[in-house]
Amino acid sequence: MKKQPKRIGLAIVGAGRVGLIRGELAARHPQVDWIGIAEKNPERAELVAGRIGADFVTADFRELFARPEATAAVISTDEHLHMDPILAGVDRGLPMLIEKPLATDLAESARVLAAIEKSGIDAVIGYTQRFRRRWLVAKEKVRSGALGDVTMVTSRAFMNRLVAIDNYRRTDNPAGISPMVISGTHALDIVMWMMEAKTPIEVYARSVDKALGPQWKGIDGSAAVFTFSDDSIYQCVISWALPVVWPGAVYSLEVGIVGTDGVLTIDDTHRDIVLATDKQQGEGYLADASRRVDFLTSYPVGDIALGELRGPMREETHSWLNRLALGLPTQHATAREGHNRLMLTKAIDLSARLKRPVKLPITPGDEKRSA
Ligand SMILES: NC(=O)c1ccc[n+]([C@@H]2O[C@H](COP(=O)([O-])OP(=O)(O)OC[C@H]3O[C@@H](n4cnc5c(N)ncnc54)[C@H](O)[C@@H]3O)[C@@H](O)[C@H]2O)c1
Repeated sequence: MKKQPKRIGLAIVGAGRVGLIRGELAARHPQVDWIGIAEKNPERAELVAGRIGADFVTADFRELFARPEATAAVISTDEHLHMDPILAGVDRGLPMLIEKPLATDLAESARVLAAIEKSGIDAVIGYTQRFRRRWLVAKEKVRSGALGDVTMVTSRAFMNRLVAIDNYRRTDNPAGISPMVISGTHALDIVMWMMEAKTPIEVYARSVDKALGPQWKGIDGSAAVFTFSDDSIYQCVISWALPVVWPGAVYSLEVGIVGTDGVLTIDDTHRDIVLATDKQQGEGYLADASRRVDFLTSYPVGDIALGELRGPMREETHSWLNRLALGLPTQHATAREGHNRLMLTKAIDLSARLKRPVKLPITPGDEKRSA
C-alpha cells in the first residue's frame, strides 16, 4: 500500500444515471480534488454538474481529456457508445472505469481491448455485483474447494420489461442488443468469475421474442447451456420481458453451483423484503405508476437511504478510487474479462439465431453470420 495517496482528477464521460452516481460518490472521496464531466445533453450536463459541484463541463469528451487536471476517467455513456471515449482515454493514458458491457459490437470490443492492452493502462469494467458480500463469499467457497470440483451451475435471471423497453428505445440497432448482452452479462460474469479456472468450449441456446418482438424488434429472453473443456456445464437463463408489475425493480436472480463434494445455492430474488403500497414509488430503474409492489434492494446499483446511495455501486466506486489513490488491489473485472463476457453473450445470441451449437470462442466475423 502506498503511504502517500495520489490525488485524483476525475473525468466522467456520460452523465446519465450511472455517471451521476459515480460523480456524487467521487465528490466526497478525500483524494478527488477535481471533477470534469462531458455530457452531450446540455440540460442533463447542467443538472449533474450542479449536483456534484463539477469543476469543468463540456459536451465534448476530447475537450475534457485535454484538461491537465484529469488523472482518471469513468466511461458511462450508453452501452453502444463506449468505444470512442475509451480510445481517447487510452491515447491520453488515463486509468479507466468502463461501464459494462465493454462494447455491444464484438469488433469494437476487440479493438478497445487491443488498444488497452497495448498501452498497458489500468482499465477495469463495472461489473458491480462483484462487490456484494454474497457473491464474494460464494467465490471464496468455490475457490477454496468447499464444493470439490464444480461440475454444474445454473443461473436464472428474471426482470420486468422496463429495462428492455428503455434499451430498445435508446438504440437505432435493436439487433445489436439483447437481454444477454445488456443484462444477462451481470449473472454470466458472476458465474464465469467463479468458474475462471475452466474454459468454455461450446454453447447451445434458444431465444423467444413473442412479447417484445412485435413492437420493439427485440428478444424477450434466452436459455443457454455452456460446456467447458472438462465436461462441466452451465445453464444460463434470462428473461427481461416479464410484465411491468413483476415486483423485482430490476434483477431477481437464483444461482446453484454443484460440485463433486458440495452444493451452494444463492437466492438473490430479493423476495425476502417486500413493499406493497398504494403510493407510487419513484425508485429503481424507471418509475412506473403500475408498480405498487416492490422487492426492495432489487435495483442492482443500490438504494437511496438518508440521502445517499447505499449498496454495491458505492462499494465498487470507493474501491476503484482507492485502487487509484492507494494502489490497493480490487476484484474488478479486467478489460480482457469484459471482452470475454461480450464474446460469450454474443455467442449465445448467435447460437439462438442459428438454432445450433456454436464453438467457442467466436470472432467478430462469426457475430454477423446468419448460416
Ligand atoms: N453496473 C451496473 O449495475 C449498471 C447499472 C446501470 C447501467 N450500467 C451501465 O452504465 C452505462 C450507462 O448507463 P445509464 O443507465 O447511466 O445510461 P443513461 O442513458 O442514463 O446515460 C448515458 C449518458 O451518456 C450520454 N452520452 C452518450 N454518448 C456521449 C458522448 N459521446 N459524450 C458525452 N455524453 C454522452 C447520454 O447523453 C446520457 O446522458 C451503460 O453501459 C450501462 O449498461 C451499469
